[in-house]
Amino acid sequence: MKVAIIGANGQLGQDMVTAFKKNGDEIFSLNHDKISIENLDSVSSVLCEIKPQILVNTAAMHHVENCEADPEKAFRINGIGSRNLALAANDLEATLIHISTDYVFSGSKKSPYLEEDLPAPLNVYGNTKLSGEYFISAIANKFYILRVSGIYGHAPCRAKGLNFVELMLKLGKERDEVRVVDDEEVSPTSTEDIAAKTIQFSTLEQYGLYHLTAEGSCTWNQFAREIFNLAGIITKLEIADPSEFPTKVPRPKYSVLENAGLKKNRLKNMLHWKEGLKIYLLKK
Ligand SMILES: NC(=O)c1ccc[n+]([C@@H]2O[C@H](COP(=O)([O-])OP(=O)(O)OC[C@H]3O[C@@H](n4cnc5c(N)ncnc54)[C@H](OP(=O)(O)O)[C@@H]3O)[C@@H](O)[C@H]2O)c1
Repeated sequence: MKVAIIGANGQLGQDMVTAFKKNGDEIFSLNHDKISIENLDSVSSVLCEIKPQILVNTAAMHHVENCEADPEKAFRINGIGSRNLALAANDLEATLIHISTDYVFSGSKKSPYLEEDLPAPLNVYGNTKLSGEYFISAIANKFYILRVSGIYGHAPCRAKGLNFVELMLKLGKERDEVRVVDDEEVSPTSTEDIAAKTIQFSTLEQYGLYHLTAEGSCTWNQFAREIFNLAGIITKLEIADPSEFPTKVPRPKYSVLENAGLKKNRLKNMLHWKEGLKIYLLKK
């Protein structure tokens, strides 16, 4: 199949390219210098030339503080950008695979969120990503919206630099004591596993919204402990008070997602977060 990957040089985009290539697909890597998703002319002209059968969108404005500072830009990219891709996918009769986020939820639930749970984002990033989901589900004929969470991959994150694992490896080696908060529960997920499961979805023809996160959950502090244990790093890990890392942008305290749709379709389950981390560290 002809597969166009938008954000191809990003953290997740690079693993998408590798996974679809391994699957035998013909890949068109679209970086930001080739396409601007918020611009319909750019989207239409680039994609009409390629005529992909599958369009994978990993591009987004996802630096939470930057989104809060410039909500219009965040909406143009995360909302209008998604609309543009949905329109282009319909014109080409292509399947749109779009990456969304756990931040569409408020975190008030105390058990894993299901796909049918009502979103209630707390910040501009979550709101604009949710608008993108709504545009796609209202417009696109053939789409998958895949909500991911706490992602880490071997390619650096273009928007944020070091992912959490790399940051902990660096701090753990440099410092005698590392302080990490314990007040947010997540399912840290490896981009390699997300890309592998995206391949399964690409030919499923059971279109819709899916959660795609690692099995199990932990706090960032517990995640840091597992990183240090597996990497053999000896440092003192303390629980930080959230006030030590002040931010004006609210984030969900609990954003664990249940991969209910994945299981319903009997697709191979996502790795447990500890297993995904182990594989990531072994490949370093
Ligand atoms: N990182 C996380 O923890 C996390 C958690 C949940 C969900 N997500 C979602 O996962 C996806 C991938 O994240 P990531 O960490 O792989 O991001 P990333 O490394 O920052 O990559 C994003 C890519 O999108 C491109 N891009 C940005 N704005 C664009 C635009 N207007 N038009 C075209 N391309 C544009 C970037 O290019 P330039 O850098 O050249 O601008 C970059 O190649 C995003 O949809 C994000 O919302 C991420």
